[in-house]
Amino acid sequence: MDILIVGSGGREHALAWKIRQSPLVERVWVAPGNAGIAECATCIPLRSDDTSGLAEFAVQHRVGLVVVGPEEPLTKGIADVLRARGLLVVGPGAAGARLEGSKSFAKGFCERHGIPTARGIRCEDVGTALAHVGDMGFPLVVKADGLAAGKGVVIATTQGEAVTAIESLAGRGSLLLEEFLRGSECSLLFLCDGKSVLPFAPARDYKRAEDGDVGPNTGGMGSFSPVPDVTSAVQRDAYEHIALRVLAGLADEQIDYRGVLYAGCMVTQDGVKVLEFNCRFGDPETQVLMPRIQGDLVPALVACAKGRLADAWLEWRDETAVCVQMVSSGYPAAPVTGMIIGGLDKVSQDVMVFHGGTRQEDDQLVTAGGRVLGITAIGATMAEARAGAYAGVSAIHFKGAQWRTDIASGMDATRKGEQT
Ligand code: AMP
Ligand code: GLY
Repeated sequence: MDILIVGSGGREHALAWKIRQSPLVERVWVAPGNAGIAECATCIPLRSDDTSGLAEFAVQHRVGLVVVGPEEPLTKGIADVLRARGLLVVGPGAAGARLEGSKSFAKGFCERHGIPTARGIRCEDVGTALAHVGDMGFPLVVKADGLAAGKGVVIATTQGEAVTAIESLAGRGSLLLEEFLRGSECSLLFLCDGKSVLPFAPARDYKRAEDGDVGPNTGGMGSFSPVPDVTSAVQRDAYEHIALRVLAGLADEQIDYRGVLYAGCMVTQDGVKVLEFNCRFGDPETQVLMPRIQGDLVPALVACAKGRLADAWLEWRDETAVCVQMVSSGYPAAPVTGMIIGGLDKVSQDVMVFHGGTRQEDDQLVTAGGRVLGITAIGATMAEARAGAYAGVSAIHFKGAQWRTDIASGMDATRKGEQT
């Protein structure tokens, strides 16, 4: 079977790397891909928003499965178009992708179906939001409704900060005011075919740009899996109270959801609660999940696309994976690109280097985006995986390279075999 992956980041590189190991797969196409992806798949010059071009390509090349990476094409309905052409797709249609595309839809969905989440007030305009500013105490979480690449959320600790946040989000559509939840965060991903869910192992990502979780929100500075405090009891809680209720809700609202359901969760004292839904694989979570899958991923992806997920399973390696993102200077606000990347040949063979923003220019590899490379290592313990990832980082150089030095630190208590 030939598989087409849509996207061009570290997530798509990790997917291509894993998928091409499958004995079921002959050819892996990635649109548009990047310089690293070109080493394990065939990149085609079609942008991820070129829906009709991608559909045409997939039909002409008899692609057996399309896996859509980024959220934007999904919210615009790429999966509906591809399915209408008879293609098998991992990725929900526009109706399901609203779980990510509209925070107020997601909040309403949780409320309608009893899915645990932070209490929230949906406000159609700034005036309404200002009128409700004092209703839930502080800190207060202020969220813009639509896709914002991590930039649409402000945690306001005072009334003044909340007012400023609300005013700064004016013109971005409706707003959501939310109760601040305390606890530890995790990313719980499920393959979902509308009738069944198949969980991925838990992961955690680091959203803030700087060590100690300060600085601006980013697309993700690193990740690890498994997560020591996401015990099997927490996973069961999430399966029963989040995943199964989402399935019931999707059925009730007649949404045929075939793709990845990603629940960004807070493990609180009163159980796991949803902070957000994404309608796709997480990045950089996918860069630690793919290396931990034992055996083939492709049968589960095909089962998901066909609506036969009940028959599929995934096996997980016991080991821990840690990913450290190397990013461009100026990231996330204004990444400086075009820097020559060196040292990749010095990275140990067992460390995986997933490319995000890279480009081949003549015979040189140069930076071409904010998140440049994801350096992932596997180890028997968190400490071992972390040491491997940072050894990889220190071998690589490009001008202005930045990374967090505290990814997976203080997490060494992982007991082998305790989590999946
Ligand atoms: P979101 O885009 O909704 O995931 O929010 C981005 C980040 O803001 C999350 O990863 C959390 O760190 C934080 N956040 C969002 N909502 C809440 C909440 N209700 N309570 C505490 N932190 C939150
Ligand atoms: N790691 C966060 C995301 O993929 O949205």
